[in-house]
Amino acid sequence: MRPDAAAFIRANTTIATPPLIPEIRLHLATEITPIWQASEDALARANVPPPFWAFPWAGGQALARYVLDNPAVVAGRRVLDFGSGSGLVAIAASQMGAAQIVAAEIDDVAAAAIALNAALNGVAVAIETADLIGTAAGRWDVVLVGDMCYEQPLAARLTAWLRALAGMGVTVLLGDPGRSYVPTSGLVAQARYEVATSLELEDRTSRDGIVWRVESE
Ligand SMILES: C[S@@+](CC[C@H](N)C(=O)[O-])C[C@H]1O[C@@H](n2cnc3c(N)ncnc32)[C@H](O)[C@@H]1O
Repeated sequence: MRPDAAAFIRANTTIATPPLIPEIRLHLATEITPIWQASEDALARANVPPPFWAFPWAGGQALARYVLDNPAVVAGRRVLDFGSGSGLVAIAASQMGAAQIVAAEIDDVAAAAIALNAALNGVAVAIETADLIGTAAGRWDVVLVGDMCYEQPLAARLTAWLRALAGMGVTVLLGDPGRSYVPTSGLVAQARYEVATSLELEDRTSRDGIVWRVESE
């Protein structure tokens, strides 16, 4: 984990709750442009990934809400939160009694944010920074994916992997607010939530967050 990341996160965020998830507190940014610029300056390098970890994305909020309202989905099970960002979904699964919870996140600043946010909520979350796409099934009973269909190559790789996991008996749930590259078939709606969003981040004041179960095809 980057030694400078935790200090950067504390200095550039406030502790707040996502609109749909009043139970969970996170280190969040209020506006995107200042923290984006600050992360490039303070973390000092070009090619710093966008600070996705500083926002609770609409798809992740819908999925976290679903987990909190339906604890049986995760209770006693080995759970992966893939593309964890702030750690919101992983924290919800941990609070609802997951037997194991791993947050997978390739951005090491996000990994630091997940650790801070888990501690803030008094839960333990293991963090995996390797890219797990393609990893064989067997390690998880449930895979949770919040708002990951925003980029075509990533969504294509991810969808193929999620379908393969579903075919091997893993429960795969995808929270999505209508992103461009969400699969158009092989999804079964489980729940739908109106999620308040900021105009700056989403160009609209709310999004329809749907929790989908991903089928094998
Ligand atoms: C739009 S954010 C969603 C974060 C969170 N799930 C939520 O809904 O608030 C997408 C996150 O996925 C992470 N990500 C992208 N590709 C990944 C990969 N191959 N493995 C793990 N994380 C990945 C990004 O770093 C980013 O934090």
